[in-house]
Amino acid sequence: MNDGDGTLAAQDRGRQFGPLGTALVIIPTYNEAENIKSIVGRVRAAVPEAHVLVADDNSPDGTGKLADELAVEDDQVQVLHRKGKEGLGAAYLAGFRWGLEHGYGVLIEMDADGSHQPEELPRLLTALKGADLVLGSRWVPGGRVVNWPKSREAISRGGSLYSRLALDLPLRDITGGYRAFRRETLEGLGLDEVSSQGYCFQVDLARRSVKAGYHVVEVPITFVERELGDSKMSRDILVEALWRVTAWGATERVGKVLGRDKKQP
Ligand code: GDD
Ligand code: MN
Repeated sequence: MNDGDGTLAAQDRGRQFGPLGTALVIIPTYNEAENIKSIVGRVRAAVPEAHVLVADDNSPDGTGKLADELAVEDDQVQVLHRKGKEGLGAAYLAGFRWGLEHGYGVLIEMDADGSHQPEELPRLLTALKGADLVLGSRWVPGGRVVNWPKSREAISRGGSLYSRLALDLPLRDITGGYRAFRRETLEGLGLDEVSSQGYCFQVDLARRSVKAGYHVVEVPITFVERELGDSKMSRDILVEALWRVTAWGATERVGKVLGRDKKQP
C-alpha cells in the first residue's frame, strides 16, 4: 500500500523484494503505423537490456508488418499477431501470457503513441525494486499531462476519482496505462478471471493488485498526448468502464455487509 507519494506504509516496512529479471515492454497496437518505429526505437535506446513485444490486433494500416520488419532487424523485438480488434485488455492478457511463458521477470505496459515516454522507464524500474507493481501516475505530485484537451483530462481525472471512491483504492491514477509488474504479481492476480476488454482493464488490474495485498507504488510521469494517429477511446469503452467499476464496487460492498469476501465478477 502507498500513501500516494511512494512512501511505504507501516505494514510493508521490512518486506524483502527479490531481484528483477529481464524486462519485457508490451506495446499494444491498433493502427499505429506512424508511431511504431519511433516508439520501439526509443524503448531500445532508453533501456537497451529490455525486450519489446508488439501486440497487434491485425491493424488495417499495416502496423503489424512494420513491427515484423523491426523484429527481423533486432532479436530483442517480437511481434504477437492477433486476429482482430478485441480491445486493449485482451491484447495485454495475451502479451502477459506470452511474456510469462517466455520467462520474463518484469512485464511493462506502454502505449505506442509516445504518451508514455520510454525515457522515464528507468525510474519505474528503480521503483519496482521495492514494489510489486509500479504505476506511472499523472495525478501525484510531479506528474502531469501535456497537450491533453481539458475535456479528456476531466474524463481521466473523473474516472480515477470515481474508481478510487467506488472501489476504496488508495491510488491517484487508476486508469493509466504505463505500468511495471513483477512476474510474481501477475501470476498471483488470477488473469484467467479477467474479462475487462477496454481501458477499464487498467482499473481491474489495479484493484486486483491492491485487494491481493500487493505493494503498489505510484511514480510521477509526464504524459504527452500523441502527435500522430488517433486515440481509440470510444463511448463503448467509457460505458464498459462505468458499468464494470460500479458493479465491482457494489459487489464489494455486499461482500462487506455479509462479512465475507465475495468473489469478484
Ligand atoms: N492491440 C490493441 N487492440 N491495441 C489497442 C486497442 C485494441 O483494441 N485499443 C487501443 N490500443 C492501443 C493503441 O494503439 C495504443 O498503443 C494504446 O492501446 C493506447 O490507446 P490510445 O487510443 O492512444 O489511448 P488514449 O491515449 O486514448 O488513452 C490513454 O489513457 C487511458 C486513460 O487514462 C491510455 O494511456 C490508456 O492506457 C489509458 O487507459
Ligand atoms: Mn494515446
